[in-house]
Amino acid sequence: MDSLETLRALALAQVEQAPSLEALEAARVALLGKKGSISGLMTSLGAMAPEERKEAGARFNVLKDEVAQALSARKTQLEAGALDERLARETVDVTLPIRPERQGRIHPISQVMEEIVTIFAQMGFVVAEGPDIEDDFHNFTALNIPPEHPARQMHDTFYFDERPDGTRHLLRTHTSPVQIRTMLSSAPPIRIIAPGRTYRCDSDMTHTPMFHQVEGLVIDKSTHMGHLKGCLTEFVRAFFQVDDVPVRFRPSFFPFTEPSAEVDIGCSREGGELKIGKGKGWLEILGCGMVHPNVLKSCNIDPEIYQGFAFGVGVERVAMLKYGIPDLRTFFDADIRWLEHYGFQPGDVPTQSGGLSR
Ligand code: FA5
Ligand code: MG
Repeated sequence: MDSLETLRALALAQVEQAPSLEALEAARVALLGKKGSISGLMTSLGAMAPEERKEAGARFNVLKDEVAQALSARKTQLEAGALDERLARETVDVTLPIRPERQGRIHPISQVMEEIVTIFAQMGFVVAEGPDIEDDFHNFTALNIPPEHPARQMHDTFYFDERPDGTRHLLRTHTSPVQIRTMLSSAPPIRIIAPGRTYRCDSDMTHTPMFHQVEGLVIDKSTHMGHLKGCLTEFVRAFFQVDDVPVRFRPSFFPFTEPSAEVDIGCSREGGELKIGKGKGWLEILGCGMVHPNVLKSCNIDPEIYQGFAFGVGVERVAMLKYGIPDLRTFFDADIRWLEHYGFQPGDVPTQSGGLSR
């Protein structure tokens, strides 16, 4: 069995001293591969007498396990070394000044969110927020969408796993839960807008699984549908900065508003280009309506005294129309050439004092 000891020493030395992952793989093949030296030992068992075979087999197996363990330990060591080496090689000095020839761009979504907020801020709205991960109450029930209501299916919701108490959290399907959070935490009169991310299991030229909405909510004693229409018409005019944008208020349904409407903007899609105004096409940009009395009641507001309107604007949709971006999915491809083309200079972000565009 001396030769076995020698083989063991040689094998372990070869593994422990392997200088690289490639050398280690070569050692593995030479030892444990089909034609490897340790596999060769196993084959030799066939020629042995039964008693001898039993004892030798056990020793060979011990050796085989020992070598396999050494291989895996050395592999971990070499991989950690390779990572350290890469981290050292790829360090970035974040204190270096920016390179003027490689300036970053503001994403159209960020730009358009600022544009929308600026317009509504000038009308006296304040910004409110809510979480992306919502519960059923805020996203559905308090919005007059009880369990089993068919509108829940319309939303293609992303749910999280069930909690021990049986409840399931979800990624909010719209910014409307911010209406509920605001009404529960403050007393009317209310005039807020809530920009943020929303999620639905949906994807094509005008839908992505993650998108942005800006919610608006006005609650007061004498607010009516005329205010809603005037406010949104003024928004469209200020946002698109064109006098004759074709806008249509189309009757619609939302459980949390009554009456409800959707607003479409006239556009055409010729030659892969999206243009506002011309052509016979329409693109839906927002949903709106008068807040349903049941929603006010869920938020402890007396519908006999207060009423109001709400709306939810699709940020990507208005960005596509204003800046002629035909496919919604390209917004999230993270393609630097796209951003260089459609992005904005940091100095062009709208401000209340500077207005929308310069
Ligand atoms: C809603 O989400 C309602 N919460 C809007 C609302 C608010 C109505 C307040 C009444 C009162 P809707 O599912 O239609 O409604 O979506 C609103 C807008 O979001 C749409 O008009 C569209 O512009 C945009 N939108 C909807 N789904 C997507 C998507 N998958 N990708 C991009 N934009 C989308
Ligand atoms: Mg809709």
